[in-house]
Amino acid sequence: MNYKEAFDKLSSCQQEHVLKYYNELSDEAQKNLLSQIEKLDLSLLECLGQENVSEKRGNFKPLGAVTINEVKERYDEFSKAGIKAIRNGKVATVLLAGGQGTRLGFEHPKGMFNIGINKELYIFECLINNIKSTAERAGAWIPLYIMTSETNNAETVQFFEEHNYFGYNKDYVTFFVQDMAFAVDENGKIILEEKDKIFLSPNGNGGWFSSIAKAGLLEEIKNKGIEWINVFAVDNVLQQIADPAFIGSVICSECESGGKVVSKASPNEKVGVLCLENDKPSIVEYYEMTDDMIHRLEPDGSLSYRYGVILNYLFRTDKLEQIMNNKMPVHIVKKKVNCLDENGNTVNKEVFKFETLVLDMIHMHKSCLPYEVERNHEFAPVKNAEGVDSVDTARNLLIENGIEI
Ligand code: UTP
Repeated sequence: MNYKEAFDKLSSCQQEHVLKYYNELSDEAQKNLLSQIEKLDLSLLECLGQENVSEKRGNFKPLGAVTINEVKERYDEFSKAGIKAIRNGKVATVLLAGGQGTRLGFEHPKGMFNIGINKELYIFECLINNIKSTAERAGAWIPLYIMTSETNNAETVQFFEEHNYFGYNKDYVTFFVQDMAFAVDENGKIILEEKDKIFLSPNGNGGWFSSIAKAGLLEEIKNKGIEWINVFAVDNVLQQIADPAFIGSVICSECESGGKVVSKASPNEKVGVLCLENDKPSIVEYYEMTDDMIHRLEPDGSLSYRYGVILNYLFRTDKLEQIMNNKMPVHIVKKKVNCLDENGNTVNKEVFKFETLVLDMIHMHKSCLPYEVERNHEFAPVKNAEGVDSVDTARNLLIENGIEI
């Protein structure tokens, strides 16, 4: 792309300022900037001004779950079905580790955070310990695909290498890199990180399936006969990965997908709730819920919209392929980042990023089984440095579960 083409592309969307410093740049930096402009998907700008997703939502209804008690009653049956699927190589797992973890304020990939007190215990290590124990139970290694971003891929891979994959079989671990997207300021103008560099950041965890396909791994997944993919977040140190009972319950229910849920701790807890929207499974964000939805009760006194998601989903490979070409809704997310201000000075300021979210995939399925788990046994998120969902709360939960830290 030459300067004129770049200028025309940008000016069609009132973004010419991206070339503001062009004449100050070296030949190489100019070339670099033009190639970044060529790759920009400016159609994202159309999402601006349409942020109020809740106004476009359909009719919500509560959705019941397989409860903890039901799981207890049918535990052997579910586990057996799950173990069989794992042993037959039908299950793979995807660790979403492309996020920036800005709230934690740790300058490395979140999984490299040492949550231990008396010994080293990294977040990645906690996850590997969990999947390893399931693999041992099933007597089969479970393929683990790790999504990173351009920003943290090299460091993540090196960390796993240095720690010898925490004892997991490295032949079953594959890294793939997610796509990046630009961000805008409050006036909808694309942000620069340097005079010759457009600010880019990971485009949300919803891109995991298209990124796996783009990395050429979908063929491998299909050739291996993998039918189910368990997708989970990096930041829950009690995450049960490829949980046989969860997998088995979804298989037995004949649902197209499944989601682990916990009963909300209080009506106003800030979690997305798995429910029905226009009679299809869906996740309603806490800020999209009306007062009536927040407080509505079932005849037994429990909350109607009760089951909060914990970012642990089970998808069928063939269904994902069918929905891959569906357009994912784009969410506009505010984050504080280092970038240039309008005078070319580096500042730390709030920008608006474009992200797709894995939770939106649920609504693209005909059915989803909410599978209730014990919060204190399976949900220890590390989101913040202090306070709610922080390093301290996660440490306490690890100790409560008998894990040495
Ligand atoms: P979060 O929504 O908590 O975002 O991610 P984050 O970027 O990690 O943290 P903050 O908001 O900046 O503090 C939930 C999960 O999705 C992954 C994260 O790594 C985490 O496992 N994720 C998020 C991605 O893989 N890619 C993304 O672009 C965003």
